[in-house]
Amino acid sequence: MPTYNTDELKNRFIVIEGIDGAGTTTQVRLLGETLIARGFSCMVTAEPTMNHIGQLIRTILSGEDMVVPTTVAHLFAADRNEHLYGKNGIMESLKSGSLVISDRYVLSSLAYQGTTCGHRLPWLLNSAFPAPGLTLLFEVDPEICIARIRSRLKKEIYETLEFQRRVQTMYERMAYRLSNKGWRIERIDGSKDIESVQRQIESIVFAFLGFEC
Ligand code: TMP
Repeated sequence: MPTYNTDELKNRFIVIEGIDGAGTTTQVRLLGETLIARGFSCMVTAEPTMNHIGQLIRTILSGEDMVVPTTVAHLFAADRNEHLYGKNGIMESLKSGSLVISDRYVLSSLAYQGTTCGHRLPWLLNSAFPAPGLTLLFEVDPEICIARIRSRLKKEIYETLEFQRRVQTMYERMAYRLSNKGWRIERIDGSKDIESVQRQIESIVFAFLGFEC
């Protein structure tokens, strides 16, 4: 198993999570810009990644390739392993002194694949991955999220109201479980406009990093 310094993860690895259309991608970008403008070295990243495994996952999410749900769970875990430990990955960035902000991580697999193939396999596949220092979990009504993504040209297989409702419930269950394992998970009201969500995030992240707003 790879070795890592838990302080690097505890102090500098931040993850943003939520159902589709919750606004995680926009807020990860904005947070990255703010931190860089304040002089931090910062890697802004996402899962699924842009590497080979991540691209294969995208073809499955688009409906182009069809595989059984348990295969998808394995692919996400493999993509994450490379994202963490591979070249130019999360651990490398943390070791070089950067902050890392990721749009999605382990909790996404527990919520989404927990919904498609039951919680046992995703839990097993992801239990060895280290905890980030801070996870921000967006809470937004799935109806609002579906309305937000309705205008997107490219649709993905998970983007239905019924599925997102189930994922939201699974997010809650799994966040509770991870909190009991010592993960720091803070809730964000993602139903507000972009600027107020950004302010909520900044106040939590600045406190986490130990500096004033
Ligand atoms: P996004 O790029 O819009 O965040 O879409 C990524 C999709 O992949 C989203 O529907 C969530 C899903 N996903 C999983 O099902 N499991 C995972 O482990 C991750 C990281 C994402």
